[in-house]
Amino acid sequence: MKRAGEGATASSQAAGEFGSEWKLRRGSCPPAAVGASCSMDSPVIVSHPLAQIHLTAMRRTDTACGQFRWHLHRLAEILFVEATRGLKTDVIRIQTPLAETDGAAFARPIVLVPILRAGLGLQDAILPLVPQATVAHVGIARDEETALPMPYYAKLPAVLAEADVFLLDPMLATGGSACAAVTQLKEAGAKRITLVCVVSCPPGLEALAAQHPDVPVVTAAVDEGLNDKCYIVPGLGDAGDRCFGT
Ligand code: PRP
Ligand code: URA
Repeated sequence: MKRAGEGATASSQAAGEFGSEWKLRRGSCPPAAVGASCSMDSPVIVSHPLAQIHLTAMRRTDTACGQFRWHLHRLAEILFVEATRGLKTDVIRIQTPLAETDGAAFARPIVLVPILRAGLGLQDAILPLVPQATVAHVGIARDEETALPMPYYAKLPAVLAEADVFLLDPMLATGGSACAAVTQLKEAGAKRITLVCVVSCPPGLEALAAQHPDVPVVTAAVDEGLNDKCYIVPGLGDAGDRCFGT
């Protein structure tokens, strides 16, 4: 079995090579990186009807750019709620207008890492949910011929080692971009990384599980596989182009 980054192209990881073996876990088991005890070889698939309604709108060819972005934002909020389900919090004592009571505070810093550029669509929706988060940027573009990841930018904060890190990218296709981003983050000290993505597929999940088995994936769908250009099928097309109208 070939994995992302092996061989001259990633196209040999097309649909079917992995599909029948892949174990799907539907439901809402929280990712182990944020405090639960799920196995790392299967994604958390967010099957909530609202998530699936927004995903359906995003998949449709006749959904124009502005609407696509709007549905992406709504779906990102739902995915992030699931991705943070097991997040560690501390009990803090607070004063309401009427009495003292216990409240919750994040135990660790939160770092959002959108993979440029399509990840910015997820970040726009998620940052308002955690305004205290730090945002790191990782720029990776797939080579159009080989589908291999080409890192071109990284701006990472110093708090990665103690933070809960959420890597944001709408698409997990061959997995090359996500694997490269996780490698960069780990080299910079990150220890708890969760990937939040809209559409995944068996080759990408397999590649990530092989290279980074400690990174849980929260996704709205595991599609059939890849076409000969390494696009996810049925997928939703080029997420960056659809989000930004290019
Ligand atoms: C897309 C997508 C992911 C990557 C997924 O980005 O947003 O980053 O492809 O493919 P992979 O799993 O095979 O690596 P792209 O390189 O097209 O850049 P863009 O976000 O600028 O459109
Ligand atoms: N990148 C995308 O935007 N879409 C795909 O289907 C694969 C990679």
